[in-house]
Amino acid sequence: MMKELDIWILKLTKFLLLCLFIFTPLNSADEGSDSSSFVSIACCSESNFTDNKNISWISDFNEFPNRLSCENRTISEPFAINNKRRVFHLGSNQKRCYNLTAKKGEDYLIRGIFGVIWGSKFTVAVGVTTIGVVDSPEKIAVEGVFRATKDYIYFCLVSDQGTLYISEIHLRALQNLGYYLEGFSSSILELIKRIYFDEISEGKVIRYEDDPSDRIWISNSTLDPGTDFISEQQDVNVLGWNGAPVPIQVLQTALTASDRLVILHDGLSSSNNLYLVFLYFYEVNQTVQAGQRVFDVYLNDQLRQSGFDVSGNGSNYRELALNVTANGYLNLTLVKASGSGNGPICNAYEIFQVHQLVQETNQSDLEVILEVRNELLEYNQQDEVWEGWTGDPCLPVPWNGLGCEAVNGDTVITKLDLSSGIHRGVDQGLKGPLPNSITKLTHLTILNLSDNGFTGKIPEFLHPSMLISVDLSHNNLSGSLPESLALQPHLATLNFGCNSQLAKVNPPSFKGLKVTTDHGNCGDQESSKRGIIIGASAASASLLKPYPMTKNLIFSLPSMDDLVIKSISIETFTLEYLEAVTQSYKTLIGEGGFGSVYRGTLTDGQEVAVKVRSATSTQGTREFDNELNLLSTIRHENLVPLLGYCNEKDQEILVYPFMSNGSLQDRLYGEAAKRKILDWPTRLSIALGAARGLTHLHNFAGRCIIHRDVKSSNILLDQSMCAKVADFGFSKYAPQEGDSGASLEVRGTAGYLDPEYYTTHHLSAKSDVFSFGVVLLEIVTGREPLNIHRPHPEWSLVEWAKPYIRESKIEEIVDPNIKGAYHAEAMWRVVEVALSCIEPFSAYRPGMADIVRELEDSLIIENNASEYMRSIESTGSNRFSIIMDRRIPPPSPSEPSPILTQLAPPEPR
Ligand SMILES: *[C@@H]1O[C@H](CO)[C@@H](O)[C@H](O)[C@H]1NC(C)=O
Ligand SMILES: *[C@@H]1O[C@H](CO)[C@@H](O)[C@H](O)[C@H]1NC(C)=O
Ligand SMILES: *[C@@H]1O[C@H](CO)[C@@H](O)[C@H](O)[C@H]1NC(C)=O
Ligand SMILES: *[C@@H]1O[C@H](CO)[C@@H](O)[C@H](O)[C@H]1NC(C)=O
Ligand SMILES: *[C@@H]1O[C@H](CO)[C@@H](O)[C@H](O)[C@H]1NC(C)=O
Ligand SMILES: *[C@@H]1O[C@H](CO)[C@@H](O)[C@H](O)[C@H]1NC(C)=O
Ligand SMILES: *[C@@H]1O[C@H](CO)[C@@H](O)[C@H](O)[C@H]1NC(C)=O
Ligand SMILES: *[C@@H]1O[C@H](CO)[C@@H](O)[C@H](O)[C@H]1NC(C)=O
Repeated sequence: MMKELDIWILKLTKFLLLCLFIFTPLNSADEGSDSSSFVSIACCSESNFTDNKNISWISDFNEFPNRLSCENRTISEPFAINNKRRVFHLGSNQKRCYNLTAKKGEDYLIRGIFGVIWGSKFTVAVGVTTIGVVDSPEKIAVEGVFRATKDYIYFCLVSDQGTLYISEIHLRALQNLGYYLEGFSSSILELIKRIYFDEISEGKVIRYEDDPSDRIWISNSTLDPGTDFISEQQDVNVLGWNGAPVPIQVLQTALTASDRLVILHDGLSSSNNLYLVFLYFYEVNQTVQAGQRVFDVYLNDQLRQSGFDVSGNGSNYRELALNVTANGYLNLTLVKASGSGNGPICNAYEIFQVHQLVQETNQSDLEVILEVRNELLEYNQQDEVWEGWTGDPCLPVPWNGLGCEAVNGDTVITKLDLSSGIHRGVDQGLKGPLPNSITKLTHLTILNLSDNGFTGKIPEFLHPSMLISVDLSHNNLSGSLPESLALQPHLATLNFGCNSQLAKVNPPSFKGLKVTTDHGNCGDQESSKRGIIIGASAASASLLKPYPMTKNLIFSLPSMDDLVIKSISIETFTLEYLEAVTQSYKTLIGEGGFGSVYRGTLTDGQEVAVKVRSATSTQGTREFDNELNLLSTIRHENLVPLLGYCNEKDQEILVYPFMSNGSLQDRLYGEAAKRKILDWPTRLSIALGAARGLTHLHNFAGRCIIHRDVKSSNILLDQSMCAKVADFGFSKYAPQEGDSGASLEVRGTAGYLDPEYYTTHHLSAKSDVFSFGVVLLEIVTGREPLNIHRPHPEWSLVEWAKPYIRESKIEEIVDPNIKGAYHAEAMWRVVEVALSCIEPFSAYRPGMADIVRELEDSLIIENNASEYMRSIESTGSNRFSIIMDRRIPPPSPSEPSPILTQLAPPEPR
């Protein structure tokens, strides 16, 4: 009681003192306070202005003239002044950058102020290095400390989900502050916390002009048990320093404890990251001498500094910089040394996360693409594409229409696609001459400038170049086709059709080439793709086999449809081509027992998934051949088709169409599920699609193909959410009579594995049925098949769900996310089917064809709920009787034993 009162009195006196400090011009005439080197951007501000601290603010309309992307906002942050913000509504992986003037070699802090928008997520990059994520309303600011490597610096927002938004940007030269320690010069420091201790008010802000570098110091006035504040009773007077490197106000109060001070920071990213911690100490008690306040400094339980003496250097001020690799939290503990008369103190601290500096795009490509931009801009000021052409052309994400690759550690531009599809809102596409500078992009492999209004001649290209595919069709180009372009050594497709002014290609002008010209019906929308294509092979071959190729020859294609039809047969790709397609295996989209899966784009634009067998894979060539043989003959709407393969230099690679909606697993409880709940009717139709795909396999060519690894991550979803069963790497023909069925090793995935197959090693289509039953339970419950992080009785989905189903307590297991959004009858049917699928004895399980029928009925009920309800009311039946009727009958004594069933051919249809 007494103690509390004391503290109150102390706080009051301190408050009065503080007021004194505020009104005493103690620090304000500091020579350091000069804002002329600051760059301050007020987004969407109607005019430039100077604020009451004499800081000049500039509007961003010069960089982003679009007023439609401006919004009002309410300012609740104590360190923001702009009541506007700029909002960019973009798809994912796009960026918008501000270009600020800096001075090479100097140290800066750069800070973005955002202001709250719910449900958005984007990253912030300084230069090309990503530093922070804005993903919650609490993330008001992102700040980085960097050393300029050029005379400008980009401040970029890179979209992930939702919109990008920004209100203010502050660039501040750091006046001789030693943030760049030895060993950290090639990094950017992301500010995590900058705290000082102040007993008066939590969240108070100290910045310019008190801090000449405009660092924002935020006060913490919370006391943990055993800690207290001590304050300077007179003026802060730092001895032996030419002005303290932190504001005097920050040094007025220190946090202290009689024995130990613990400063804990959790909520840091939960992967191992490097952090820098800066600690600031000022001896606030003037009677304390050297040796009288000594303590040990621990960081995450490691002793980092022993016998640290605040007054030990003949001054009353000291700093300490520590680096640490941490995961999730930082624990800074200061412990009084034995023999020290006074407990530890701390006035302020900063925590930074260290981000390794990323290298910019290849200097020459960077300069050339800016030339290309300027050439295009001259005739196309209004085009919207330029708004996205800010910052580095490739990094962290490329400009719209560009594709980049890393070649020997250097990022280069390999693709330029400005076909009309890239544009929005501009009817005629791009105008003016083809930019000459494009011929100087030495790493370019794909160039697409089709469907624009380009005029003039086609420029001469460097020869030889890396070009693989060039599309200049549907423009107003004139002159003739330059030989330097037509005879590029790697060129597989060249389309220059539908340029009515272009001279007809004269066959003898290109030696060794067979030429057919067809200027086609260019005005007609239907056949607007007609043109001339120089292809790799004879007209009968598909465009999918481009590089390297036999010899150029020119042929014409009547329409786009032909391309599609021709691509159906399986192609052989070269390793080199697949490297180009995947940009040297840049984007990993999945990993499995077989190896890794990468995303890529074929030269004809088709998105593909490229599956590369890993060198360490225990599954061998056998699986590869297996999959090839099987897939080359199987086509079904609900099976992922094989597009092509490559078997070269011990590499075994399969190419599939890319499934843009990911896997069922991801949609049920992966990352995608966090964004959007998969509704019950969609779940049902996915289950039905997958069941149809498996039925096709089980009845394939009179013999049964067993998938052997049915699971939700192998059920992929195309752009219209149509289910396609993937990964036949494990597939086997079912053993037939005479085969030795037990010779196969057990394959599959934990949680989905048929217990009977597991114990007997006898394989049958019913093993797939078991696994499919688990998938059905997943769609009902939204739970993963195995999760050891749940309480023990819930580890196994099957074991957990079974008793509830048997006791008819379906509501207990249904995914809470779809509660109330399903038809009970449809749900019941699915659950009943699932239960029969996971029967321990395979003989009791239904066949896939039966499952398809059940799921079809469920879907009809779900989609047609009210009508169905009327029909069952009129017949007087109820939910249970219907289900009982449809139950799969128990096996009769005459049915074969489970073991025999496995050797039998697939279920009769
Ligand atoms: C405000 O700043 C400008 C330069 O940025 C300087 O010339 C001027 O003297 C300053 N005014 C005051 C009142 O400090
Ligand atoms: C604001 O300042 C910038 C940079 O000095 C200048 O380019 C721009 O024209 C100014 N805008 C207005 C509206 O004065
Ligand atoms: C934004 O605020 C200004 C006044 O500062 C007001 O005139 C304008 O109507 C507001 N715009 C919107 C969209 O609310
Ligand atoms: C971190 O600090 C330790 C010891 O103080 C030092 O040996 C090490 O070089 C530092 N690490 C880096 C990356 O500078
Ligand atoms: C202030 O300190 C308390 C106690 O150490 C801590 O819980 C709180 O998170 C701190 N606040 C800030 C803004 O750092
Ligand atoms: C200042 O230090 C002296 C000597 O160590 C000590 O007696 C006194 O209590 C201290 N004052 C405060 C406010 O901590
Ligand atoms: C923080 O570190 C100190 C010293 O290593 C240790 O005694 C204490 O238990 C740690 N606290 C937490 C919460 O980890
Ligand atoms: C950014 O500004 C600098 C200096 O004005 C300029 O050289 C550079 O080209 C600009 N970057 C972009 C992408 O416009």
